[in-house]
Amino acid sequence: MREKFVQLVDKAATNHELTKDELVYVLQPETDAEKNLLFKKADEVRKKYCGEGVHLRGIVEFSNICERNCLYCGLRKDNHKLNRYRIPDDEIFETAQKAASLGYKTIVLQSGEDSWYTTERLCEIIRKIKKHLDVAVTLCIGERSYEEYKELKNAGADRYLLKHETANQTLYKRLHPGMSFNERLKRLNWLKEIGFQVGSGNIIGLPYQTIEDLADDILLMKKINVDMAGIGPFIPHKATPIGNFPAGTLDLTLRVVACARLLMPDIHLPATTAVGTIDPYGREKALKCGANVVMPNITPQKYRKDYEIYPNKICIGEKPEHCRGCIQKRIESIGRFVAEGYGHRIRSSLQG
Ligand code: 5AD
Ligand code: SF4
Ligand code: FES
Repeated sequence: MREKFVQLVDKAATNHELTKDELVYVLQPETDAEKNLLFKKADEVRKKYCGEGVHLRGIVEFSNICERNCLYCGLRKDNHKLNRYRIPDDEIFETAQKAASLGYKTIVLQSGEDSWYTTERLCEIIRKIKKHLDVAVTLCIGERSYEEYKELKNAGADRYLLKHETANQTLYKRLHPGMSFNERLKRLNWLKEIGFQVGSGNIIGLPYQTIEDLADDILLMKKINVDMAGIGPFIPHKATPIGNFPAGTLDLTLRVVACARLLMPDIHLPATTAVGTIDPYGREKALKCGANVVMPNITPQKYRKDYEIYPNKICIGEKPEHCRGCIQKRIESIGRFVAEGYGHRIRSSLQG
């Protein structure tokens, strides 16, 4: 092993700081021995700060209607081949209720950017869930105004997930017609200010993305002081303008997850559905190099196939109760256990 590699991984595992150049270096192990060292150190840091419990978040994909046109995403508004749906409000609540009875302590309400869901409507759903169920609520519904975010927080939402997708501003502009990186960043700061626990995240292996970009992604999330980082591979979708580009690899995704863990030792890092889609054991592998959260699908089965962000998404043919059992078995197969409690932020004395 290169001495410099060993030293930098040790430094990152101890101080949780690296310069951009150092991070670019650590993101690129040259041998299996170096890669294994990186993964092992990330696993140790995860164990030290987050323990052996894996937090589950149940995701309800309540609307696949989207007003945006992100170049990578199957839900983009110009994809006219997709059958669009909105799950009725009562059924959203019933889905959350069922998830709570399956033991989920966090319900994630996720959708495309669908303004048909006014803040009032969303607040009503949130209030009902928070009143009747003993769960934390995470929202993942895209860009809204400061006032709207505030109302959603007041209605009882605990967390908000808004991935920055890529820290390369030129690439961001190309991939997100009509959107702006600065608007995205502004919202991440608003969400923090309003008091949400905030998740961001990025896509690995986007067309024209470099290893330097991935280092910037990690450093950006560290700077914003996110509570959670969703890191998943790019999976090309044929009905999108970039459907012919190659997918992001498992290997690169795991290296980014491991480095994210070294630099942000106490955040929540999910083993994403996308990583489970490109490799049958992708989620287990991610859990072994830094991840400590899994987000199983709790969407009623009849809607699942239409939430096609990317092709071959796992769990399309399964029911919520099946996924709940499946994921527990997978977690236990690697010697870990399903964590109890809400799994709020772990961030502690480390943060200034
Ligand atoms: N491959 C991987 N991830 C994708 N997302 C959207 N499309 C793709 C794709 N083709 C992710 C984005 C977005 C979330 C809804 O799904 O990160 O935030
Ligand atoms: Fe819409 Fe989100 Fe897909 Fe972009 S990534 S098209 S905002 S669902
Ligand atoms: Fe859905 Fe395994 S988590 S089938």
